[in-house]
Amino acid sequence: MKLLVVIAFVAYVASAVWGNFVNIRSIQENGEQKIENKIEEAVAPLREKIRDLEKSFIQKYPPVKFLSEKDRKRILITGGAGFVGSHLTDKLMMDGHEVTVVDNFFTGRKRNVEHWIGHENFELINHDVVEPLYIEVDQIYHLASPASPPNYMYNPIKTLKTNTIGTLNMLGLAKRVGARLLLASTSEVYGDPEVHPQSEDYWGHVNPIGPRACYDEGKRVAETMCYAYMKQEGVEVRVARIFNTFGPRMHMNDGRVVSNFILQALQGEPLTVYGSGSQTRAFQYVSDLVNGLVALMNSNVSSPVNLGNPEEHTILEFAQLIKNLVGSGSEIQFLSEAQDDPQRRKPDIQKAKLMLGWEPVVPLEEGLNKAIHYFRKELEYQANNQYIPKPKPARIKKGRTRHN
Ligand SMILES: NC(=O)c1ccc[n+]([C@@H]2O[C@H](COP(=O)([O-])OP(=O)(O)OC[C@H]3O[C@@H](n4cnc5c(N)ncnc54)[C@H](O)[C@@H]3O)[C@@H](O)[C@H]2O)c1
Repeated sequence: MKLLVVIAFVAYVASAVWGNFVNIRSIQENGEQKIENKIEEAVAPLREKIRDLEKSFIQKYPPVKFLSEKDRKRILITGGAGFVGSHLTDKLMMDGHEVTVVDNFFTGRKRNVEHWIGHENFELINHDVVEPLYIEVDQIYHLASPASPPNYMYNPIKTLKTNTIGTLNMLGLAKRVGARLLLASTSEVYGDPEVHPQSEDYWGHVNPIGPRACYDEGKRVAETMCYAYMKQEGVEVRVARIFNTFGPRMHMNDGRVVSNFILQALQGEPLTVYGSGSQTRAFQYVSDLVNGLVALMNSNVSSPVNLGNPEEHTILEFAQLIKNLVGSGSEIQFLSEAQDDPQRRKPDIQKAKLMLGWEPVVPLEEGLNKAIHYFRKELEYQANNQYIPKPKPARIKKGRTRHN
């Protein structure tokens, strides 16, 4: 009997303890649930904010065509962060190709191609073409070289190295991977021409020791190298002799007549004309040039082709036109003539018309208005960033050594 009472008592105590335990658990679980709910309530808006931020960081690229594997090319553009190169990058990207830009940012800027950074078809490599490059490509647009007189005269030895060693390196790459190479040559290979207009069979009139020689002769030998590689190694080459080109993304310190006049007119400074102003120039808009480069690359024309706008104007006419388009009250100031400044420059583009079906289509005023808009924005941008670049003076050795 006693045993039965003890067992009943133990059973009673055990059930009471178990009951309490279950109650405590459920209270605890309820508490945890409440805390979780509170945390969830606090975190939900944060999660929403992170989602919004992520969305705003998703890069929006310009529209790109889809090309099948067969039609899509791997294209290298040396100097692709420069003025012409960045417009060429835009065209080839939008056409659906894979583009690798190689640039040492001497005169190029990341800003010119930043709208493609992160795109699966685009790559930007900080590299100097004076050093060899090992990549796999189908086509090479070889544009790397300073192009405007203040830039190529700044360090003439480097200009020579870029145009000679740099071109050899790119031809070597073309040979190794079986790529076609297009050289961005220049109308400067004609020097101060004795024939007018200049057609491709004119050999030129260049002063080999003048201040422009590093560029003019650099490009002339670059052309020679292209044809040596073509004849000796079977490399497919295309040579574009580019005449003066203008448009958005030109350098503020380009130093050539269009950018000089626009900047002077926008800032109310006198428009500086070297000599009498009767010397002529012909300018093409950058989109015309880019279309010409692509047409030439994909043609079967291996000999040099002029790409330029044959509409010739005197420097004085340009000054007046730009003054009017800007609506500027600037006066025109005459300065002494620059050394080796060509008197006349006008391309003969019969060959491009006939063999590429190409000719410039953008009217001068339309192009100038776009360039004026660009320079106006650049001035605002630089004023906001407290930075106005001035043309660099040419480097003159004063016993200081420097690695070129
Ligand atoms: N713009 C014109 O009117 C014009 C006329 C004739 C020929 N061209 C030729 O077209 C090409 C492009 O000219 P642009 O007006 O765009 O000039 P640019 O100065 O804007 O572009 C040249 C690009 O090459 C890069 N570069 C220079 N040296 C390099 C090196 N060693 N390694 C790697 N990158 C280097 C620069 O940083 C720059 O991005 C040049 O080869 C130029 O000679 C231009």
